[in-house]
Amino acid sequence: MKAMKIAKDVYWIGANVHTEDLFEGIWPLPHGVALNSYLVKGEKTAVVELVREWGGASHILIENLRSLEISPSDIDYVVLNHLEPDHTGLAYLSDSIAPNAKFYTTEKGARLLNGFYGIDKNIVEVKTGDELDLGKGKKLVFTEIPNVHWPETMATYETDSKVLFTGDAFGAFGVHQGSIFDDEMPGTYEDYWEEETLRYYANIIAMFSSSVLKAIKDLEGFKTEVIAPSHGLVWRGNPREIINKYIRYSNYNKDFAEPEICVVWGSMYGNTEVMLNSILKGIASEGVSVHIHRVPNEDPSFILSDAFKSAGLVIGCPTYEYGMFPPMKYAMDLMKKKSVRFKKALYFGSYGWSGGALKDFEKISENMNWDLFEPLVFQGHPSQEQCERGENLGKELAIEVKKIPPKIK
Ligand code: FEO
Repeated sequence: MKAMKIAKDVYWIGANVHTEDLFEGIWPLPHGVALNSYLVKGEKTAVVELVREWGGASHILIENLRSLEISPSDIDYVVLNHLEPDHTGLAYLSDSIAPNAKFYTTEKGARLLNGFYGIDKNIVEVKTGDELDLGKGKKLVFTEIPNVHWPETMATYETDSKVLFTGDAFGAFGVHQGSIFDDEMPGTYEDYWEEETLRYYANIIAMFSSSVLKAIKDLEGFKTEVIAPSHGLVWRGNPREIINKYIRYSNYNKDFAEPEICVVWGSMYGNTEVMLNSILKGIASEGVSVHIHRVPNEDPSFILSDAFKSAGLVIGCPTYEYGMFPPMKYAMDLMKKKSVRFKKALYFGSYGWSGGALKDFEKISENMNWDLFEPLVFQGHPSQEQCERGENLGKELAIEVKKIPPKIK
């Protein structure tokens, strides 16, 4: 993707990365990720967000600048809304390729510039309300939006074009396909972006939902015509759509989410799997949407996404060495860390010599606002009677979940 004009003298100059396997070293990127970087040109030249050397992104950014007849040495300012290395990796070369550039970031951001890259000069620390006049009518205004998703984050508003650069807020996994803009995205790609935006939120942002809502409120005063996040689409046609998505997601861990059920299961010798079939039969009898994930076969990134948006959660796994089946324990620890709260939740599973998985389930679900159904544990292979109980529990859970009003309009 070449440099793209967003508004007069405002350009996208980022890169689509297809070849990086894991985001933050944890989260899979089967559809890649866009590293969005922007150029604002007044009398002075500012770049908002850099990139990391993933998939040739640094080279692409510099080529995009050159296509606009700008050399890195022409850059006067580099605005860093967020210091995570996916947006700042190129900073370590600033001395040699952009020696005239001054960095604009928050006080906490300045410390990270030093920590990550040893940069301790040519830094201007900014606070909410500070401005940077680029000349020719272009002016940047900064607003701190801490904890979306790290403490140093801010957003930058360009007053002439009314573009709001939001850092990771309003971002998504996934690369651009054909266009960077929401209003040029074919309707057939809507599911792709919905899934990659929700997964990004559940994996990266979910723990900071209160900060997201506060940031949205703090940025309301700007007459924003374009939302330009550091990942995902640039929202030019309908910026309200991504704001509404983020409000909806941020409420998923403040109350019961969508009337759907996420079933996560793992089985050592097929005994827990037998009960899985009974529970699924009970759920199906009520016609509730269900998302089924098996551990360890599926990555927790995708499990988190479906667990986060579903009001119903079924955890089915055996006891392993006096505790929970380890891949399920890992998935559930992530649920706790990422605030997968407010669930109608059911545990079932087999044990051999002793129980233990249920104890772990109950411990992890403490203080998570989960309404727990009566657990179903059984030694070895479940009996016919136990399977009937499982079917009934699946049905009861589905009936409860169906009562929850959908949040997706
Ligand atoms: Fe896209 Fe938090 O870095």
